[in-house]
Amino acid sequence: MSRASSTPQQPPPPHRPTVALLLGLALVFCLSVLSIQSSFTAPRVPSRLEVDAEQVRELSGFQSRVQQCVASRGLGLTADIVDHCKLVLKFPTGTNSTWYNAQFKIFEPLEYRYDVCETILLWEQYRNVTTVLTREYLDVRPDGWLDYAAKRIAQLGAKKCYNRTLCEELLSVLLPAKPPFHPRQFATCAVVGNSGDLLKTEFGREIDAHDAVFRDNEAPVNKKYAKYVGLKRDFRLVVRGAARNMAPILNGSSDEALIIKSLTHKEINAVIKELPNPVYLFQGIVLRRGAKGTGMKSIELALSMCDIVDVYGFTVDPGYTEWTRYFSAPRKGHNPLQGRAYYQLLECLGVVRLHSPMRAQRVEDWSDVPSKEEIKRAHAAAFRLKKHEIGQADELGPFSNCKVWGTVDPDYGPVSGTSDMSETRRNSNYSKWELLPLEKLRNEAQEHHAQMGGVSLYKMDGNKLDDLVCVRHEHSSG
Ligand SMILES: *[C@@H]1O[C@H](CO)[C@@H](O)[C@H](O)[C@H]1NC(C)=O
Ligand SMILES: *[C@@H]1O[C@H](CO)[C@@H](O)[C@H](O)[C@H]1NC(C)=O
Ligand SMILES: *[C@@H]1O[C@H](CO)[C@@H](O)[C@H](O)[C@H]1NC(C)=O
Ligand SMILES: *[C@@H]1O[C@H](CO)[C@@H](O)[C@H](O)[C@H]1NC(C)=O
Ligand SMILES: *[C@@H]1O[C@H](CO)[C@@H](O)[C@H](O)[C@H]1NC(C)=O
Repeated sequence: MSRASSTPQQPPPPHRPTVALLLGLALVFCLSVLSIQSSFTAPRVPSRLEVDAEQVRELSGFQSRVQQCVASRGLGLTADIVDHCKLVLKFPTGTNSTWYNAQFKIFEPLEYRYDVCETILLWEQYRNVTTVLTREYLDVRPDGWLDYAAKRIAQLGAKKCYNRTLCEELLSVLLPAKPPFHPRQFATCAVVGNSGDLLKTEFGREIDAHDAVFRDNEAPVNKKYAKYVGLKRDFRLVVRGAARNMAPILNGSSDEALIIKSLTHKEINAVIKELPNPVYLFQGIVLRRGAKGTGMKSIELALSMCDIVDVYGFTVDPGYTEWTRYFSAPRKGHNPLQGRAYYQLLECLGVVRLHSPMRAQRVEDWSDVPSKEEIKRAHAAAFRLKKHEIGQADELGPFSNCKVWGTVDPDYGPVSGTSDMSETRRNSNYSKWELLPLEKLRNEAQEHHAQMGGVSLYKMDGNKLDDLVCVRHEHSSG
């Protein structure tokens, strides 16, 4: 008995009045073109080559802005422009590369090549998507239950969910029916990594001043570290290993929503049932380029709910030679140049704002980062160019990357929380974010919701970078 229907490649049904209006406009336009043509020389519709040339010009201008931004904020990094999309970030000669990759038998390189067009397409999309796995996603995605669900459960003993009942049992404790959080829900968010660098600056109060704070794994939050990392706790992204020991990490705090990055299994489920905190599974693609790990996922998670993402405790300063965490002894030999370069690129694409000891004394001045308007134009240009390259229509809009459409009944299941919430959870006092009704959200979130017609977007994990699964919530007739 399926409560959701899904149809690959089906476009959203256009509103009839809109179609009529468009036809009308088109007619008026044709007539005016005809009348102009009869009296003057014909106005030329720009050819695709001309349109592409225009996008290339736009992007080339943007590349110079990125280059300037890297020069002024990169603490020695420089950007060499290759073309309108590609650039190379370079560390100054003499930079010590101490991190040895045993697999490839090389030290970390001092140059990193990026495609700014792809990067901007990828990260701008996160502002509109849901990054928490939901039941509606599994229902609507064609291989949702059989294939995809199986990938999110460890110890299943099968590559596919041949027994859907069993898979539902294993996931139900983590699976809300619909997205529990909304795009644009928060104005400012702090994503706090675990770097030992955090102890060099007292960012605690600044971090706590954000609307929501995102932390990683076992990062302690207590009086001892309050000066450096603050006390506010809203979201915590955890890997499977950490999820098992969640109770002592939370230390009695029921105020944090937990998002498990990778997989769940029976043992984690048992832990979850003892916690009052909401617990979810992360839903997002595996990044093939750039820095990996929990840090990147935290940024994706934050970006799917926040306008501004301030990043603390990531190793983004030069001269970092040890891998340290603010709450444990240093380990040896780690110099994540690749991460540093990528974070700097993200800052210069308006995705995050970097905060670190070497950047602490600066006035908060972001004027050398491209503006929202510049980023929007660059995004549109990158989008058109890419669609032309692959021979697709270039109509820009929030649904332009929807590969799969599905419809679900809005009354199906709880708005958030799962059908299998434990007693502990049901009786808890957690009431911070996930249960917020639409009218309690900030205006930007409500406006976005209205503009999207209530449709939720999800990344199609494992597939092409920008393919989306789009879920319409059909109004019930009753
Ligand atoms: C690189 O390492 C060497 C030896 O450890 C040191 O003398 C030098 O100052 C380092 N250079 C930089 C730029 O950190
Ligand atoms: C499927 O899993 C359920 C729940 O674990 C179990 O009760 C049922 O016997 C399984 N069905 C088959 C055909 O294995
Ligand atoms: C746990 O919380 C208690 C007070 O609620 C505090 O005294 C203790 O230091 C905390 N433990 C850790 C490991 O943070
Ligand atoms: C995101 O949603 C907004 C509507 O709030 C829309 O204008 C914009 O085009 C969307 N961006 C992307 C990259 O889909
Ligand atoms: C929830 O809050 C109420 C009222 O403040 C309190 O009586 C109750 O003990 C709390 N429940 C839990 C599980 O903390």
